[in-house]
Amino acid sequence: MAWLDAGAADDFPEGGSRVDLAGRSLAVFRIGDDFYVIGDICSHAFASLSEGELWDYDVECPLHGSEFDVRTGIPRGLPATQPVATYEVRLEQGRVMVSVDAGGGDR
Ligand code: FES
Repeated sequence: MAWLDAGAADDFPEGGSRVDLAGRSLAVFRIGDDFYVIGDICSHAFASLSEGELWDYDVECPLHGSEFDVRTGIPRGLPATQPVATYEVRLEQGRVMVSVDAGGGDR
């Protein structure tokens, strides 16, 4: 399992940030001191979920409005029907480390 450094935890603002790691576009969500990482590209069409508004643990796709739970990647409503990939994340000496092997199948 490869853990890759997504950046310093203190550099992530509250809400979503896009990070490119190992050829994948990831959406890193900071909620307080907790971090969640999902695939950045919506499963419905081409939109960046890191640019969506965050409501509790749900991010709203900026293009058509499906909401995805950042903890599970599962959409809560149409038009998206497929989940986005989720990635394991942990903090290590102030760095946000992401396992790019855990999510798999991201586009
Ligand atoms: S592109 Fe995200 S809901 Fe359509």
